[in-house]
Amino acid sequence: MPAFPILISSWNGLPALSRAAGLAASGTPLLDAIVEGIGLVEDDPEEMSVGYGGLPNEDGIVELDAAVMHGPLHRGAAIAALRGVRRAAAVALEVMRRTEHSLLVGEGAHRFALALGFKDEDLLTPRARKAWLDWKASLSDRDAWLSENQASSGFGQALWAGSTGPNAKADAPQSPATTGHSDGHPGGQTPAPGDSRQHAPKVPFTFGTIHVSGLDANGDLFSCTSTSGLSYKIAGRAGDSPILGAGLYTDNGIGSAGATGRGEAVMQVCGAHSIVSAMEDGLTPTGACLKVLKKIADRTREKRLLAADGRPNFNVTFYAIRKDGVTGAASMHQGYEHVVQEGASGQVRPCAYLFEKSKSPGC
Ligand code: GLY
Repeated sequence: MPAFPILISSWNGLPALSRAAGLAASGTPLLDAIVEGIGLVEDDPEEMSVGYGGLPNEDGIVELDAAVMHGPLHRGAAIAALRGVRRAAAVALEVMRRTEHSLLVGEGAHRFALALGFKDEDLLTPRARKAWLDWKASLSDRDAWLSENQASSGFGQALWAGSTGPNAKADAPQSPATTGHSDGHPGGQTPAPGDSRQHAPKVPFTFGTIHVSGLDANGDLFSCTSTSGLSYKIAGRAGDSPILGAGLYTDNGIGSAGATGRGEAVMQVCGAHSIVSAMEDGLTPTGACLKVLKKIADRTREKRLLAADGRPNFNVTFYAIRKDGVTGAASMHQGYEHVVQEGASGQVRPCAYLFEKSKSPGC
């Protein structure tokens, strides 16, 4: 007899799942418990891919995306490009509860959150501000922002020089191959070699996100995804996380799924919905995740998104739970983990993967 709730999350979800399971055990409805658990991660200034402390957009402003889905009601709602409010998942839940809308964005989402009493604050931590300034300095040797190389070799020396000089920012040594592919996993906060958004060593970079899907003791399914999205994005960019069917999807009769990683790739295959459909067709949760990852890999054709061996130079990880409580997760590349919670017991598990580390330069 399994212990309930059964929850699956991205690697960064251990505290969220533990909190959600504890709340559910004392009678909190599972979706509220999941949103509250995710709130712990949104509050954490050290987690640079979610909520307070998330990496900002190119203007230095943190913009959050989040969504929830409620299996029994088959309802979902989301907010995108929300500024100044750290509890993005809770705001999405209120959109679902208090409105007939499915998606509020930007200034409207902000005003909605403030009307409900959410606190308005600057979400940019000193650590995230430093990362943003380092990113700006690494972009070009033809602007007034000095990189570490330029500053240490004499003020202004390479400022207006061509990009080929020894102090030029564009010549800064690039990150070595990392174990991850910029989806916020430890070791994955710098882009893989070949990624066109590779800026400079030590500049944190992420598509990181938290996703949680869960099954309660009544057999009902719920999900939530929350993120600060792609670091240094163009203001107003929304990824897959607030898009029902992409960053999350829950069908109470079949299962629930979600995504972390490169949102543009997930949206282009309707990722989470495709996984739930594959489970409906009889695939296991892991098999369904792998099928949709293969679909992404097969349809990634632009050179800027491919490593030298022809594989995608980015990561996506999918998470799924079936109506009977079986869970599974898979990543594009080897080396990622996820978390599964059954009742009071949480466990970090390796993700299945499409491409082996050793065969893919940059994995
Ligand atoms: N998966 C998060 C994003 O791309 O924004």
